[in-house]
Amino acid sequence: MRAYDMIEKKKRGGALTREEIDFLIHGYVGGEIPDYQMAAWAMAVYFQGMTEEETGWLTMAMARSGEMLDLSSISGCKADKHSTGGVGDKTTLVIGPVVASLGVKVAKMSGRGLGHTGGTLDKLESIPGFCTALSDEEFYRIVNEVGICITGQTKSLVPADQMLYALRDVTATVDSMPLIASSIMSKKLASGSDAILLDVKTGSGAFMKTEAEAKALAECMVKIGKMAGKKMAALITDMDVPLGNTIGNALEVQEAIDTLKGQGPEDFTQVCLELAANMLFLAEQGTMEQCRRLAEEAISSGRALETFARMTEAQGGNPDVVHDSSILPKAAVSMEVTAEADGYVIGMDAQGCGTAAMLLGAGREKKEDQIQMDAGILLRKKTGDAVKKGEPLAVLYTSQEGRLADGAAKLLSSYRIGPDPAPARPHIFARIG
Ligand code: URA
Repeated sequence: MRAYDMIEKKKRGGALTREEIDFLIHGYVGGEIPDYQMAAWAMAVYFQGMTEEETGWLTMAMARSGEMLDLSSISGCKADKHSTGGVGDKTTLVIGPVVASLGVKVAKMSGRGLGHTGGTLDKLESIPGFCTALSDEEFYRIVNEVGICITGQTKSLVPADQMLYALRDVTATVDSMPLIASSIMSKKLASGSDAILLDVKTGSGAFMKTEAEAKALAECMVKIGKMAGKKMAALITDMDVPLGNTIGNALEVQEAIDTLKGQGPEDFTQVCLELAANMLFLAEQGTMEQCRRLAEEAISSGRALETFARMTEAQGGNPDVVHDSSILPKAAVSMEVTAEADGYVIGMDAQGCGTAAMLLGAGREKKEDQIQMDAGILLRKKTGDAVKKGEPLAVLYTSQEGRLADGAAKLLSSYRIGPDPAPARPHIFARIG
């Protein structure tokens, strides 16, 4: 077999066999197939797509390219969730503790932020001492003792995705449905949970800009997971507007804690409760209605907050953070961005808001960039709200004053103000599976 023939076949719209896909992934991870051939193949996939079968085989080949976690030492049902990424998306920090406080184990491997999207690991590390680099043994122990642990993906988990994602990132081949589906699902399958809930985002801050694209991706991933014997479901949720009122690591942790106390913003709380209920449902904790009630009670009783504190302590962080907000880093400078006209916020470029937070220091432009945990944005107005000229739209935070001007300009250009209110968009569009 030759990689050249597979590139040629895909370029002409042919479907690769299982053996050919195994050969490509094995050869790439083993160093026999160079980056330039893999990049050419990824671009051919971008234009020609893949069949369902090919996507399933690619996912399995990638999942098996490294260590497959064995969670059998963790008792009970193990549930995982994955978001396709967005702005202000701190759902894991709420859903994980809610679900774990009800007895379903959450052994979660999360990622870091890049570009306009944030990452759960960065957010958690804004809690002083919180460690996200754990050995497999520590990870299993904490899940067994606390019910939840959130750690970073090790180098040995799905090396094929680590290599291919880095290649796609610099060859404009990230936004290909079969490549996204296989990238996400290979990591989920290798992470070993029994039940997997996908949160597929759609809108201006998401990879999938339209609901139809998001549904197609969700259906593809749900099918792959079911083929691999997992309990699967996906929710299509809104990312046309940042989720909640905060963007930036420490600010988002504080908002997640507030939400665990029942004091979170309405949109974020609704999305978290529905995701948590779906995870509980997949883990066979009752009917959807019962699971919704369980999720609400986990918050109103304080059990989910207590689980968050216990997870924080087990992972080296200060559990008092749930009651003492001064433990989180605070930015040295802040600035209000104000409305330039009277009217309504008729739209927001969520990706632009994420980029504004990155410019303030909350995110990385390149993988090796350092982030500022205290930097970010508190949104005072979102789509649908009425505004008066001079009223604050948002407050920007950073510890590097020189970053304020660029952040403010980017954020202001992300707001669209018009004379009439825009029709309301739902927070949750559909459930697949
Ligand atoms: N998230 C992933 O893990 N992989 C992709 O390809 C896109 C988003």
